[in-house]
Amino acid sequence: MGLVSVLMISFCVLSISLIGSDNTVLGIPTTLDGPFKPVTVPLDQTFRGHAVDLPDTDPRVRRIVQGFEPEQISVSLSTTHDSVWVSWITGDFQIGESIKPLNPKTVASVVRYGRLRFPLVHKATGHSLVYNQLYPFVGLQNYTSGIIHHARLTGLKPNTLYYYQCGDPLIPAMSSTYYFKTMPASGPKSYPSRIAIVGDLGLTYNTTSTVDHMIGNSPDLVLLVGDVCYANLYLTNGTGADCYSCSFSQTPIHETYQPRWDYWGRYMQPVTSKNSNNGGRRKS
Ligand SMILES: [Fe+2]
Repeated sequence: MGLVSVLMISFCVLSISLIGSDNTVLGIPTTLDGPFKPVTVPLDQTFRGHAVDLPDTDPRVRRIVQGFEPEQISVSLSTTHDSVWVSWITGDFQIGESIKPLNPKTVASVVRYGRLRFPLVHKATGHSLVYNQLYPFVGLQNYTSGIIHHARLTGLKPNTLYYYQCGDPLIPAMSSTYYFKTMPASGPKSYPSRIAIVGDLGLTYNTTSTVDHMIGNSPDLVLLVGDVCYANLYLTNGTGADCYSCSFSQTPIHETYQPRWDYWGRYMQPVTSKNSNNGGRRKS
């Protein structure tokens, strides 16, 4: 197999199993060499058993931006190759007994983008919202998110690298410059050659192994089919357990710890800020 073939490796990650017909040093044949019978690589036994969540002290889940600078930046496929959605969050979440939701109208939703890193000649404006998790029980802590922004970029060329910044240019609070590549125009021999599909990703040290493996294979497209993260193994005070009903059988309602989703968004930003992806559902 020559260099060109090696560069055209196709792969598919399903949960923590690598699916391919060959996983030698020379790589996996491309889909253009197929069709092949699916081959499942045995599960790495070191992944079995106890999956330990990343703690809130892990630097990969900490908030590193200031004020209303964007965080948890994500690029998602839109309906065709010529548009994508960019999403991000501004302002920190709050959790406690007396929370005050942020006003989405106070921070604009702007994306500047272009094929050149500078100047970013195009501009898209979007919308924003917050969500709250409110419990009707005394003693449980309530949650309100930061401001969640979505903006749709249009008029994009296929198979093309674009640079972008998101945020509010008037505060000012714009992000650093990120980039993504659009999908190729759809056709029998025109499609993303490296596709990663991952489900039930969670936010554990096993997750970090899976994501490191995924990044190491430079996918053109990441499909996050859900679940993406688990907030439902925690009390609202952040106390977690492997089995909620075993450890917290006396709670008046199944509690959750919503900041786990913010942690996931921060942890995943290196992937989601550059790969077109399709966000799956969150878990509780
Ligand atoms: Fe799941």
